Amino acid sequence: DWNSGNVIAEQVARIRAQVGGGRVLSALSGGVDSAVSTALVHEAVGDQLVAVFVDHGLLRKGEREQVENDYVASTGVRLVTVDARERFLSALEGVSDPEQKRKIIGREFIRAFEQVQADLIAEAAAEGEPMRFLVQGTLYPDVVESGGGSGTANIKSHHNVGGLPEDLQFELVEPLRTLFKDEVRAIGRELGLPEAIVGRQPFPGPGLGIRIVGEVTADRLEILRDADAIAREELTKAGLDGEIWQCPVVLLADVRSVGVQGDGRTYGHPIVLRPVSSEDAMTADWTRLPYDVLSRISNRITNEVKDVNRVVLDVTSKPPGTIEWE
Ligand code: XMP
Repeated sequence: DWNSGNVIAEQVARIRAQVGGGRVLSALSGGVDSAVSTALVHEAVGDQLVAVFVDHGLLRKGEREQVENDYVASTGVRLVTVDARERFLSALEGVSDPEQKRKIIGREFIRAFEQVQADLIAEAAAEGEPMRFLVQGTLYPDVVESGGGSGTANIKSHHNVGGLPEDLQFELVEPLRTLFKDEVRAIGRELGLPEAIVGRQPFPGPGLGIRIVGEVTADRLEILRDADAIAREELTKAGLDGEIWQCPVVLLADVRSVGVQGDGRTYGHPIVLRPVSSEDAMTADWTRLPYDVLSRISNRITNEVKDVNRVVLDVTSKPPGTIEWE
């Protein structure tokens, strides 16, 4: 029967047989699937693997450090970080339409990745070992979904940033193809990966870019990053992570309302909390969070985050609302 140790041993043997002495490239997104697939390949072929992490500036607080410090410390993976924050910000300038944002973020991600990819291919070639393989964190449900027309309407284009276009010069290494998400997490834990990565709730590839309703700017990202960090911290402290599927925190950047703080009138933005319970994200209900937890989150956000003077709770199920606001 199923046992993460067996699966690791089996996959390591398969990966070695597939890759031989070849070089392997991988893209880390900060999420579970890319983290575990990359760690498995590293377990199998060590420094024949190099991982790339694109910082698009739409990450949450601490996520880059989690990858650069904790993930690297626990795996020994050779990591190259691409700081693409400026590139994404300028590409997103003046754009408010959600689908447009997704397209731009997906496109810029590929461009940023391709730049470093070219360097790494050249480096490998110079050492006499062509870079021939690319790791993909494809899970069993992804395989099933792409294989059979499920007939579900495409409500939003979902770009899984960190997932890359099929690139014909690479052969894919997909060590998670037979696994479900909870099995992937078990393997990640067995491999000693950081809990913050292995236990992470779903987070969209386009990141905070689709949680700012309105144009994405550096200032707005900072506001949202701070508010999101407070909400996550308080939910974790209250022991609610297991009850919540995910809790998007959304900045209504084009809305302002009047408030009062001390002696002064404020004219700030609202932050929306969107805690949901779900089995598979296809349908969801809003999570009935305890009032005292909501109250703590609200007090802290309005006290600690600049330009935010109101916190509101989204009490819409899916359908009719989607989980994300964009
Ligand atoms: P919605 O908003 O469609 O979200 O109810 C369903 C699930 O998908 C995630 N989501 C995305 N994931 N790229 C992703 O990788 C995207 O563009 C994207 N949009 C939504 C969302 O967080 C939820 O888990």
